[in-house]
Amino acid sequence: MSEEQRKCLQLIDNAQGIAQATEILCAGGTVALPSETVYGLGADATNALAVQKIFSAKNRPNGHPLIIHVENVNSARIFSDDFNVVAETLATAFWPGPLTLLVKRSSKVIDEISGGRETVALRVPAHETFQKVLHAFSQVGSGAIAAPSANKYGSVSPTTAQHVLSDMGNLIDAVLDGGNCVVGIESTIVDCTVNPPAILRQGAITLELVNSALRHTGIVATEEFTGESRAPGMKLSHYAPLATVKLFENSDALSSYEEQCALNKVPFVKILGHEDRELYARELYSLLRDADALQPKEILVLLPEPIDIGVAIRDRLFKAAAPH
Ligand code: TXA
Ligand code: MG
Repeated sequence: MSEEQRKCLQLIDNAQGIAQATEILCAGGTVALPSETVYGLGADATNALAVQKIFSAKNRPNGHPLIIHVENVNSARIFSDDFNVVAETLATAFWPGPLTLLVKRSSKVIDEISGGRETVALRVPAHETFQKVLHAFSQVGSGAIAAPSANKYGSVSPTTAQHVLSDMGNLIDAVLDGGNCVVGIESTIVDCTVNPPAILRQGAITLELVNSALRHTGIVATEEFTGESRAPGMKLSHYAPLATVKLFENSDALSSYEEQCALNKVPFVKILGHEDRELYARELYSLLRDADALQPKEILVLLPEPIDIGVAIRDRLFKAAAPH
């Protein structure tokens, strides 16, 4: 069947939808699943052909490693030869939840997942629907789901089933609609293989939260703010809409730029976000997508303060604003 003709099953969040999603995973297909962060494009993480389908659908460069999602920490340990004290501590504190742990891989991890690296990224998601699929898939299959964000490589991540359908509806086998993602931005990634442990991607689990969980170990994690991080795919110019994104630290600066745009007849849309930073994070990608759909020349965005999840929102916005 050609990609154009291919029909994406739209599954609903009930026992039948979960059973169908599980069947597709067992058969080596691709199904977009709701997580608390963003929708992921899932496939059996132990099946090389299934994993290859994720790369093709996303148009993601081969060699970019994928996160394996599992039901619980016991299943996570199977995929690591060194699930060390940092990993154990953070897993206990934050799983299930929006945290991905980078640990030394075991021989159970196929090369297609790790991109040939010695490490693997593992996460236990908190979304009830994803949990149910993981549980069902552990009964009848590997129980390990590889899932990058369910968007085309480099574009804005999806936080609704509709986003997934509009981006890749003709490229995947199914989408399971679990409503709007409550966190709204991708998981925090902590590299547990380095000393000190390092946050490679900011998210809802902040450096402060990581360090308060680690306090009793005496280990203090750091944050990598280099645009080109050791986790491929987090280079600048990611999460990017088509319009040019301009960022502003305060509403005065935004207003005076807005006046200039009006004077020069530059079509623009503005995003003011929300003072409630958790709400801002939850709506960020919808706001960017909706703004882009109006096809303005520029999207003017008011940055949140760099506090709590505001740090992660700013990170995504800087990437959305990077030249592309
Ligand atoms: O919230 C999330 O993490 C979502 C949901 C679906 O779980 N997933 C997600 O996956 O954001 P993805 O593939 O879009 O982003 C994962 C990032 C990529 O930048 C990838 O390069 C990095 O994690 N990564 C995965 N495995 C890695 C590894 N072994 N070493 C370094 N970076 C790794
Ligand atoms: Mg992604």
